[in-house]
Amino acid sequence: MNKGMICSVVVLSASICLSGIAMAKAAEEACITCHEKIGPGQVADWRVSKHAGADVTCSVCHGEAHTSATDAAKAVLPDEHKCGECHEQQFTQFSKGKHNFGWTSLNAIPATHLAPDELIEGGRGCGGCHNMGIKTEAQKKELRDKGYRFQNNSCDECHTRHSFSKKEALDPRACQQCHMGYDHPQWEMWSSAKHGTRWFAKDSGNLPEGAQAPKCQDCHMQNGNHENRTAWGFLGVRLPLPEDKQWAADRVTILKALGVLNPETGATTPVFEAVKAVDMVRLTQEAWQTERDKMIKTCARCHAESYGRTQLEMGDAMMQKADRLMAEAIETVAALYKDGIIKKPADYPFNYPFLLTFMHTGGAEGNKDPNRLSYIDQVLCQMYMKHRMRTYQAFFHVNPDYAYWYGWEEMTKDLGEIKELAGTMRAIHAKTTHK
Ligand code: HEC
Ligand code: HEC
Ligand code: HEC
Ligand code: HEC
Ligand code: HEC
Ligand code: HEC
Ligand code: HEC
Ligand code: HEC
Repeated sequence: MNKGMICSVVVLSASICLSGIAMAKAAEEACITCHEKIGPGQVADWRVSKHAGADVTCSVCHGEAHTSATDAAKAVLPDEHKCGECHEQQFTQFSKGKHNFGWTSLNAIPATHLAPDELIEGGRGCGGCHNMGIKTEAQKKELRDKGYRFQNNSCDECHTRHSFSKKEALDPRACQQCHMGYDHPQWEMWSSAKHGTRWFAKDSGNLPEGAQAPKCQDCHMQNGNHENRTAWGFLGVRLPLPEDKQWAADRVTILKALGVLNPETGATTPVFEAVKAVDMVRLTQEAWQTERDKMIKTCARCHAESYGRTQLEMGDAMMQKADRLMAEAIETVAALYKDGIIKKPADYPFNYPFLLTFMHTGGAEGNKDPNRLSYIDQVLCQMYMKHRMRTYQAFFHVNPDYAYWYGWEEMTKDLGEIKELAGTMRAIHAKTTHK
């Protein structure tokens, strides 16, 4: 299975290593005895892990350099490569999947660098969920330089330290901590729809043992595969463009507002390169279809294949309809930029609405921040981030209320508000420029 394992087995069984063991054992006991006093809960947690029984002791992960209360900084804080020494398969799969881009894609967003460090490097806020992903040496250095020592590992996000339990990671609540809320409420959608309802009923013993109730892992981590990826992904766009002319035009409008296409020339931009580098969108029909086909097979474990396929195609059709509303809203705001009614925020790539700002600064009167957004831009961002996401994500997670009331209905309301605001802004502009 792994080098570390073989080594520890050899050490245990071969007497030639005896003096080595004696030293190692003593060091181990020192770690445990001392830490049992300063943090008994932490040691208790390690004791219940499979690691404790397999001789994967404190120093295997943290090294032996730190030996006293005054040299804690010498302890190694192990990253994913350390886990990978013994769990190569999971490490390799994880490396190829979307989770491995969590930290990098967070840092590719301009808004991130305007946010307080506590929310990013500190790990409360964006960085709390986007800790997912193996960091480069440069990224780790940036963390340390800012005074943040932890967050070096993402394997402990689903099977948390120091119990590192497989059972915990198989519980859908292990995904809830991140896949919830504003722009990705998969937890809320799943748990309050048929699939989740059955899972909870079964969990409380109210369904027979053999009853079927799919949870996140059954659809997204089949056979324990740590490579997570879906067809549409988070942004809900893909290349090549669809055959339907209106949908193709609407998607181009959205891609411009994502900063991926130049609004004037239609050419791809540096943002496109960044999005491509972190696998944010499927760039070929084939890449999209591979993921879709896998999912249809998954549905077919419990439904007729045509049933599952139809459900997913309905989700695609809703995406098309949602894109119509979205494009109309973007064009309305874009016209305000074009006519000089909205001033381009300093960090915008073009004189055009930009959805990847994540509403970073308030639009309140008197706010002199050169990057502040106008209120209408904030409504537009919300329409994309919160309501368009819900409209299509809810179809894929079979949730009627999110699809309609929290998704589609809110999008139509956003569009109404944007039209109204644009009208008022134009009227005020006309008055003030005539004076
Ligand atoms: C004599 C007591 C003592 C011994 C022995 C000891 N530690 Fe510690 N360790 C501490 C103290 C105190 C801290 C700092 C805790 C704090 O910051 O509140 C610490 C911190 C740590 C940290 C966190 C590092 C950081 O950057 O904050 C790790 C990991 C750790 N110890 C592991 C070990 C391991 C592994 C061993 C054995 C090789 C060990 N400790 C031996 C007392 C000890
Ligand atoms: C399988 C690897 C592994 C083993 C074994 C292990 N740790 Fe850790 N430990 C980690 C990881 C991963 C982190 C988080 C590092 C980070 O956030 O950068 C961590 C963090 C810590 C921290 C600092 C964070 C905190 O929550 O306080 C301390 C202290 C610590 N470990 C002590 C111990 C002690 C004591 C033992 C043995 C009883 C031990 N560890 C065994 C992997 C391990
Ligand atoms: C020196 C080798 C070694 C290292 C390093 C190591 N592990 Fe393990 N790990 C093991 C062994 C051995 C087992 C037990 C296998 C078994 O009993 O089937 C195990 C089991 C596990 C399990 C399954 C537990 C269960 O409930 O079945 C998880 C999850 C796990 N490790 C995660 C991690 C993570 C995360 C790290 C890094 C922070 C890590 N391991 C580092 C050797 C290692
Ligand atoms: C610590 C936070 C965290 C936890 C826990 C977590 N995820 Fe994620 N997940 C993320 C982030 C962040 C992304 C987006 C990564 C990126 O930037 O590409 C993501 C992406 C995904 C994707 C890919 C979506 C796409 O773009 O195609 C799937 C599928 C997924 N997660 C499923 C799960 C499942 C299933 C679980 C539980 C077993 C889980 N995640 C646990 C944070 C988390
Ligand atoms: C509660 C956890 C959480 C917080 C907080 C969070 N995110 Fe995310 N983020 C996720 C998850 C989960 C995904 C993947 C969702 C999906 O695919 O539906 C994601 C997706 C993304 C993506 C797209 C990644 C891709 O490759 O598709 C970006 C960029 C992003 N988040 C940036 C941010 C920024 C910037 C912040 C702070 C303003 C933030 N996130 C706050 C969990 C979080
Ligand atoms: C998104 C959540 C998530 C993350 C992140 C994650 N795991 Fe897992 N892990 C799981 C789930 C779920 C299982 C149980 C899979 C199954 O058996 O179906 C699991 C199982 C395991 C097992 C036990 C395998 C077995 O069958 O005994 C090991 C070892 C493991 N993971 C290591 C890792 C390592 C190493 C990393 C980091 C590179 C990691 N995991 C990151 C969710 C996660
Ligand atoms: C019955 C299967 C199923 C279950 C259970 C399930 N999902 Fe999904 N998930 C899907 C499908 C289908 C898609 C869309 C795939 C596509 O783009 O074609 C999806 C997409 C996603 C995405 C990408 C963005 C989106 O929402 O469309 C994330 C992230 C995700 N799921 C996380 C989760 C989490 C977390 C859970 C548990 C709370 C969960 N899923 C439960 C089937 C499932
Ligand atoms: C592990 C088994 C399992 C898997 C996998 C599964 N389902 Fe289900 N699904 C069920 C069960 C059981 C029900 C509840 C009984 C019923 O309505 O058929 C259900 C219900 C549904 C419903 C009916 C909801 C309602 O309110 O009437 C839809 C739609 C659905 N599933 C779609 C899907 C899709 C799409 C996939 C694949 C992405 C999928 N299912 C994967 C077991 C599963």
